[in-house]
Amino acid sequence: MSHTPPSSYYQRHIFFCLNQRDNGEACCADHDAQAAFDHCKARVKTEGLAGPGKVRVNKAGCLDRCAGGPIAVVYPEAVWYTYVDQSDIDEIVESHLKNGQVVERLLTPPDVGR
Ligand code: FES
Repeated sequence: MSHTPPSSYYQRHIFFCLNQRDNGEACCADHDAQAAFDHCKARVKTEGLAGPGKVRVNKAGCLDRCAGGPIAVVYPEAVWYTYVDQSDIDEIVESHLKNGQVVERLLTPPDVGR
C-alpha cells in the first residue's frame, strides 16, 4: 500500500515581524510593520486567497534579521523579503502568494542578520 504524504494545511504562509524595541536598536516596528501586516491581511482576504488550502498571514516576533527590516518570510519556499511600502506588499500578494512567483527585487540579501 502506498503512503500519501499529507498535504499542507495552508498552501503558503507569510509571517511579518512586528517586533518593537524600546532600547533604540533597530526593529521592524520602526518601519510601520503593523500597517504592512494589516494591509497584507486585508488584501489576501479581498483577493479571496485566505483560508485552508490557500494563504495565511501571521504576526511574528523578531525573526533575527532586523538589519534587513522590515522583514516578512514566506513558507514553504522560505523566501525572505524586505518590503518598503504597501505597493510592495501588493506585489508580494499578487506575484508570490497568489501565483508562486518570487519577487526578486524585494529579496532580503542573504547575509543580512541581526
Ligand atoms: S526586529 Fe524584525 S527581524 Fe528582528
